[in-house]
Order: sequence, then structure tokens, then C-alpha cells
Amino acid sequence: MPEANEHNGRLYIETVGCQMNMLDSELVVAALRQDGYQLIDNPRDADTILFNTCSVREHAEHKIYSALGRLKYSKQNRPQRVIGVMGCMAQKDQDLIFNRAPHVDLVVGTGQLAEIPQMIRAARASEKRDHQKAVSLSRKAGSRLEVADSFQSYDPLRDPEMRPTPFQAFVRIMIGCDKFCTYCVVPATRGPEQSRAPSHIMKEVRVLADQGVREVTLLGQTVNSYRHTENGQLYRLSDLMYLIDQVEGIERIRFVTSFPKDMTDDLLQAVRDIPKAVKYLHVPAQSGCNEVLKRMKRGYTVGDYREMMDRIQAAMPRCSVSSDFIVGFCGESEESYQKSMDLIRDCRFKNSFIFKYSKRDGTRAFEMFEDDIPEDVKRRRNNEMLDLQNAISAEDNAQFIGSSVSVLVEGPSKAALKSGRDSTASDSSLAQQLMGRSECDRIVVFQGNPRLVGSTVDVSVSDCTSTTLIGEIVTAEIQHGPSGLLPVIS
Ligand code: SAH
Ligand code: SF4
Ligand code: F3S
Repeated sequence: MPEANEHNGRLYIETVGCQMNMLDSELVVAALRQDGYQLIDNPRDADTILFNTCSVREHAEHKIYSALGRLKYSKQNRPQRVIGVMGCMAQKDQDLIFNRAPHVDLVVGTGQLAEIPQMIRAARASEKRDHQKAVSLSRKAGSRLEVADSFQSYDPLRDPEMRPTPFQAFVRIMIGCDKFCTYCVVPATRGPEQSRAPSHIMKEVRVLADQGVREVTLLGQTVNSYRHTENGQLYRLSDLMYLIDQVEGIERIRFVTSFPKDMTDDLLQAVRDIPKAVKYLHVPAQSGCNEVLKRMKRGYTVGDYREMMDRIQAAMPRCSVSSDFIVGFCGESEESYQKSMDLIRDCRFKNSFIFKYSKRDGTRAFEMFEDDIPEDVKRRRNNEMLDLQNAISAEDNAQFIGSSVSVLVEGPSKAALKSGRDSTASDSSLAQQLMGRSECDRIVVFQGNPRLVGSTVDVSVSDCTSTTLIGEIVTAEIQHGPSGLLPVIS
């Protein structure tokens, strides 16, 4: 018997942060749907509003607190509305959220997502609107085992309707992180590193394949540190990849995010040898300067990182690598920063995510170092680094012009979506601009029939920008029917 109905079951969820959060939102919505909730896309009409939050930088938290502030008066007009804060900021700020926004009903950490349906019910049933809180132990509040137990991985059965596309899905293979980089809140918000059992992961992948999923993205904060012993056998990420390779229906396997020191040769060989493995690695360097890396406690030197890049290049010359960099970390001199620029120049990353250092309370850097790089210097370094990376990305993309890439078609391109919204015409039999990704994770746009979505096509690249390859479908290899239509994908 569903718990919610058309009078109290309209649910709105806002998700920020990383892929872990996108997956968590999918799973929470799936559970609430089973309880009779209906997902809507306008918060104004919602009976329940959930924020799935991120604490990695201060800016992400500010945005959520502002959004909560804006809901204060609407709550006075609709006292029956339930407002919940879930995810990393809930685990990090806990009661502070109720103090700053007393109209919030629920605070639910990353390890208690399974409790959300019952907590919404309890909030609604409570006449005085008691605050409902469920969070995990802080990292120092118990033994490793006790703290790990308080962070439960939440991986119930899946709801295909909640995915970005019906044929792409995230699969969590680990939770938490034990690296404790000095700037980072994730070990606190996601708890101790725990790898899921291969048998559970495989069961989930098979369910997804049966539901029509063709591409799985394996998730972990340091996904290549995956290790789990089951029935006396040790499984690493490479072993998991070989297992998933055997699942019929799955065509592409990706994984994010990798940690440089754990990029072992067995994994590189697996990515090289498994045709379904996407030839793309996201391995954040964070800095190109040894002193900065040491203060960040990343556990490797620039020399180690360059040696890893050489091994990737030797195993797979055409493999794409992307990175993350933090600019303006405590004590980052102009010289240190230039060393990061040198690393980008030498490694020629496919793309880099570049962040200005944001001081986070509770982290080691917050306690030990002064946030001494002025905001305008951080901004200048950020912009210069972006310009350098964009120039490299554009040059690298230009090398694809004249060649053909294999693309898994994801859907209409952003431009097509925008023009579709602006016009009233929507004839799905007409060609429109579609987008997808190549085997090396490049975004590719081309004209094609919307029925191609979910299939793999060859696209000949004729132009590019720093972020996108632009091309045409290689028609010679497509069997045309008598009417010249593109193949129909069911
Ligand atoms: N587990 C991943 C990263 C997770 S956080 C890894 O180890 O690479 C995603 C990115 O946010 C990080 O790679 C880092 O570049 C950035 N980041 C994390 N904490 C930050 C902070 N305090 N200020 C600025 N950027 C930060
Ligand atoms: Fe944060 Fe470092 Fe863990 Fe990545 S490896 S989540 S940056 S502590
Ligand atoms: Fe943010 Fe939490 Fe992900 S802090 S980056 S949502 S793990």
C-alpha cells in the first residue's frame, strides 16, 4: 500500500556535487516512488523538497543555504511541506543546518539514505514538527569498524526511469575514502573506504543489463583502490572489469575517479585488453609541485605522476587522460603554480577540472596552514590555467579531423534541446543534432535520426571546438532500407 498520494506525494529533488550524489538521488527517488511519491520538476508545487548536497567547496554549501533561506516564507504558507537536507553537507554540518534554517525537517547523512521514506513519514506525523536527524559517526568517534558500520552503502534495486538515459547507469563499487588529502572533506562526509562485494556488484550489473543498460560507469572516490576478498579470493578493479566484460548487453565499461598511486599495471592491461573498456582515465594530479603535493598529503611526487603517465602511454598510446588541479592552495608560490602549468603542457590532458582552493573546516589544511593566496591571485591562476588547458584540448581535438570515431549516441545535443524547447515542432522522425561520446570519452555532435539514441555509430569528424568533435555519420556502413532511412533501433 503506497504511503503517499496525490495530496502529499509530490516530490522535488535538487542534486549538486559529484556522480555519487547523482546516483544517491536516483536511488532515493526510486525508493520514494515505490512508496507512491511522484517526481515533479517545479519546487513550487512540491509537498516534499529534498536537497542532495556537496561540501567539497564553500561555494556549493552557500548555494544550498541560500536556497533553504528562500524556502522559509513559503513554509509559513505551507506548513505541511517537508524539507530535507541529505548528503555530504548533512553529514558535515548536522545541527548547524537546523540552527541556520529551523524550517528544515530532515537532516540525513550519506550513510542513512535508506531511512528517508520513514523519516518523511515521521516528520509529517509529528505535530510539533520535531527535527529528524540521522547521521553517521564522525571519523574520530569510534573504532574504524564502528565508524565504517555507521556509513551504510545504499544500493537497493534500481529505477530505470531516474537515469540520465535508459542505457547508461552508475554502479557504486566503493564508498568512502581513507586518503585524507589535507584540503578535502570527503573522508569525513563519506566515511571510511569500503569496497562492495563483487557478487553484489555483479548482481546489480546483470539487473541493469536486463533493463537495457549498455554502459556502466563504476564509481568510487579512489575507484582503482578497489579491493575485496570474497570466498578467499582477492578481487581488484581489473578482476571486476573482466567479470563485467562477460555480462551480455553491456557494451562499455568506464570508471571514475582514479588515484595516481593506485594505477597498477594489471588495471592498465585490463583497460587495454578488454574491448568494452572505455580508453579513458580520470586521474587528478592536483598540483605539479612536490612541496604543494606534500602539503596536500597526496602521497606521490610529480616524478611518480609523470612515470604513471608514461606507463599509460606505453600501454595505450591512444588513451585519453583527464585531471583535476587546485590553484591557490596554502603557500602555492608563483613558481609552484608554474610547475602545475608545466605538467599540463607536458601531459596534454584531454581536459582538466580546475578549482580555486576553498578552505574547509575540519580538514587538516584548515588546522595547519594559512589560506594565504589572495582571491584575485587564485582567480588569475584559475583563468590562465583554463586558457592553457582549453588551447591544448582544442589542438588535440583537431587531430581527430579527417578520422572516424565510434560513438555511443546519448541523445539530442544541448543546442538541439534548446531549439526544441523554443519551437513547438517535435517530429521524432526528422534528423536533429545528436550527441554521444567516443571510445576515448570525447563529446561528439552530428546530425542524425533520434531513433539512433542508445546505439553505437561511426562518425567522421570534420570540425571541432576545445570541448566537442563535430562530424557526420559514416553512412557507407549503415544498411539503408528502401526509403533511405537510418536503421531503426528498438
Ligand atoms: N576523489 C577524487 C576527488 C574528489 S573531490 C580524487 O581524489 O581525485 C573532486 C575535486 O575537487 C578534487 O579532485 C579536487 O581537485 C577538488 N577539491 C577537493 N577539495 C577541494 C577544496 N577544499 N578546494 C578546492 N578544490 C577542492
Ligand atoms: Fe578527497 Fe583525496 Fe579522498 Fe580524493 S583521495 S576524496 S581528494 S581525500
Ligand atoms: Fe561533494 Fe560529497 Fe561528492 S562533498 S564531491 S558530493 S562525495
